[in-house]
Parts: sequence; structure tokens; C-alpha cells
Amino acid sequence: MEVLSNDLTEKKVFMETFGCQSNVLESNHVSSLLLKNQFSLTKQIEDADVILFNTCSIRQHAEDKVFSRLGQLADWKKEKEGRVVGVLGCMATSYKEHLMERAPHLDLVVGPDQYLKVPQVIREASQTGKSQVLADFDPVYFPENDTEHLSQPHKAFIEIMKGCDKFCTFCVVPFTRGREISRPSEDIVLETQKLAHAGVKEVMLLGQNVNSYGLGLKSKGNTITFAQLLREVARVDGIERVRFMTSHPLDLPDELIEVMATESAVCESIHLPVQCGSDRILKRMSRKYSVEHYLERVQKLRSSIKDLFITTDLIVGFPGESDEDFQGTMDLLDQVRYDAVYSFKYSPRVGTVAARMLDQVAEEAKDERLARLNEKAWKHAAEACASRLGKVEEVLVDGPADKTPGGFYGKSRQNRTVVFLGQGYQAGDVVKVKVDRHKVANLYGIVQP
Ligand code: SAH
Ligand code: SF4
Ligand code: F3S
Repeated sequence: MEVLSNDLTEKKVFMETFGCQSNVLESNHVSSLLLKNQFSLTKQIEDADVILFNTCSIRQHAEDKVFSRLGQLADWKKEKEGRVVGVLGCMATSYKEHLMERAPHLDLVVGPDQYLKVPQVIREASQTGKSQVLADFDPVYFPENDTEHLSQPHKAFIEIMKGCDKFCTFCVVPFTRGREISRPSEDIVLETQKLAHAGVKEVMLLGQNVNSYGLGLKSKGNTITFAQLLREVARVDGIERVRFMTSHPLDLPDELIEVMATESAVCESIHLPVQCGSDRILKRMSRKYSVEHYLERVQKLRSSIKDLFITTDLIVGFPGESDEDFQGTMDLLDQVRYDAVYSFKYSPRVGTVAARMLDQVAEEAKDERLARLNEKAWKHAAEACASRLGKVEEVLVDGPADKTPGGFYGKSRQNRTVVFLGQGYQAGDVVKVKVDRHKVANLYGIVQP
């Protein structure tokens, strides 16, 4: 058995990220903290001394994947002294020390507000074998991008708020992420300026519901409305594109639509999760809006912002969902004709109101509804894509396209993937591409002089 000789042995960390953009942002943050603390990162799990999973509790399937990964590491851990296995993210706050009962070889469980301590707890676990659980919330802590260790040179996520107070009856996020807290606007603008100075051209402002930014608890310092914040960020020198996520349809104000329509850096794109198209089920979900309200907001957005790209989240098989309720969702799809739909089978989460409802829907009915919904959603997405044929897209280049030799790819302002042939392009270049074909939801085209 190999023994680590001293504290300065460089440890290689492998990290796998599950879940939403908040986790992606926070994994980048943890990676930069590790690099600053003499760790190195590896993309090859077989080279690692430390394996971290940044986890998600939103659906059972997401948790099952992590439990299975953890199970596979019991022998790996024993093979060499000093190896460390850790769980970060939402499973850390939802299970805390109970995770160690399921996986006794686990060394550390660290929740999203405790990441500054990750380098230290890894070191302690490696040297002394001590396991630790740090899952408390900390209202004033917000992860920030480290401009010396950006995961991409041209794009970054910025956390503007955390937690959620909406308590939709199906959702675990208010429990895993705690109370909703807004970050001071001056900190957000300052981070944007630092990123722009480092060469970042696109930022995405993140929160579980950005529309309630500034309401309720504030961490410290000033907050303004989300629309005002968006305007300030959009006006930072060097920032060419601003996106945001997620907007709850209940409190999407005209002021926000106005800022989207008038600030040239704000992209023509919005993710507006509707969850379902039946008022009866929306009520049971505690979403607090009606289908009519939702459609009115979509109508106002579309009439104010040309070529707006609209995406949504949908849940099928929520408790009590009848064929008629599901038909409401299918009708809503026909009315909105989304550019992309993220669809999920309802997954009961411990501690939530919906998990205790007695009229759970059978798995086969969920499967069947999901398949029908996806078929319709794909058809709409492909048709929306086809409507871009012949148009010139402004593409922010991400890098070489894996599947197209000699090709590059990037995103249009609406956030569609665009592939084109060329030479010498770098991430962050802005290129005009005339679209000449599409494959499902991706566009292909020719660079314009
Ligand atoms: N704050 C965002 C949603 C974050 S969770 C919002 O309110 O829009 C992302 C998506 O996961 C949700 O929009 C929902 O569609 C889905 N989701 C959440 N809980 C779920 C559950 N228990 N089962 C299935 N899907 C779920
Ligand atoms: Fe979950 Fe609802 Fe909060 Fe979104 S708004 S995170 S779905 S509780
Ligand atoms: Fe999952 Fe937590 Fe995000 S539960 S969706 S990683 S906030």
C-alpha cells in the first residue's frame, strides 16, 4: 500500500457535476478554490486521488445515479491510502450525515454554502481519515468567478440570488437550498465588470426565480428590481450578451419585458417554465398562475421582442393528472409552439406536499404521456428551427465542432447551436453565419464576409 509522504503531495481531483446551472457555476467555483490550494484537476477518473460528486436531488433518477457511483467507489477507496470521496451540492443538504449510512466510505459531505472549506476538509480527510459533514446555510456567502481560472474564456454564469421561497408542491429546492436571498446589486455589477475586463463577452444571471430578486431577504447591501439589475449588467462595457434564468411566470413584470426589448445586449431568449397546461393541476402544484395568465405573458413577450426564443419545463404525471388535464398541456404546446421543451416525469420527493398526495399516477401513464408530449415538442422545435433558414445569425464561437471536421460551433443570440466551416476561429469570436440547413434543433450555415 502506498503512503502519502507529506502534506505537499499534489492531489488530483476528479469532479462530476449533476443538476442545474447553479451546480455548474459552483463546480467551477470549487475547482478554482482547489487550484488556488495546490490541488490539480483531472478529467480522467482513473488518475484521481480525490473524487467529488456535485449532486442534484430534483428527481429520484438524479440521486440514484450518485448512489450507484458512490457504491462503485468502495473498493477504489481501499486500494490506496489517502484517497478521498466527497459529495457536494443538493444531496449534501438533503441527506447530510445520513449519506454516510448509505456509503460508509464517504469522507466528506459539503453543502453549497460551505464550499470555501472544501480544500481544507479534503486535506484533513486524506491525512487523518476524518470524515466531515458541513451542510449549514450561510446567508452572506455567494460564490464568485475567479478570473484567473475561468472554465470558459468568453462566457460565465453569475449567481444573483439563492434559495427559493415559492414551495411549489413537487419541488425539493426550497429544502436543499434554503430561504431565498438576494445578492447585493453592487457585487453583481462589480463581478460583471471584472469578467468583462478578463475578456468575457456573455454572462448568464442565475437564480431559482430571478423575478423575485430584491424582494424578501437580502444578504447585505443594496438590491434593486431584477429588471433594473439586468439593465445595469447589460450596460457594462465589453459585455455583448446577457441571459438570465429562471423566470417564474407568476411575477414576470412588464418592466422586465421593457428592458429585454430595449437593451441591445439582452438576448432574445427566455426560459419560462409552465409545468403543465391544466388550471386544476397548476393549483395543486401551487404555481399560483393560470394558463390564461401564462398565455397573456407569452403574448406580451412575443409582441414586444422580435424573434423571441421561448423554452419551458413541463412535468407529466403530477398526482391527480387526468387524461383531460394532460390534453390541456398538449393544447398549450400547440398554442405556444416552444423553441425547446424540457420535459420530466413527476418524481415524488420526500418532505414535499405532492409526495403525500394519494392519487399518484401510474408509471405507464407517465411514460405514455411523456412520449406523446415529446413528439409534439420536437416537431415544434424543428419547425421553429426551419424558420431560421436563409437568415443570418450572429454566432458567439464556443470552439471546434466535434462531429464536423473543419467545423466550428457557437450559439446564436437566441441560444441555438450553429455549426459552420472555417479556419482559425477562437472561443469568443463573433461571426455572422447564413443558415442553409438544420438538423433537428441545430443550425448549419456559411460564414458571411
Ligand atoms: N426554479 C425553477 C425550477 C427549478 S427545477 C422554476 O420554478 O422554474 C427545474 C425543473 O425541474 C422544474 O421546472 C420542474 O419542471 C422540474 N422538477 C422539479 N421538481 C420535480 C419533480 N419532483 N419531479 C419531476 N420534475 C421536477
Ligand atoms: Fe422549485 Fe418552484 Fe422554487 Fe422553482 S419556484 S425552485 S419549481 S419551488
Ligand atoms: Fe438539482 Fe439542486 Fe439544482 S436539486 S436542480 S442541483 S438547485
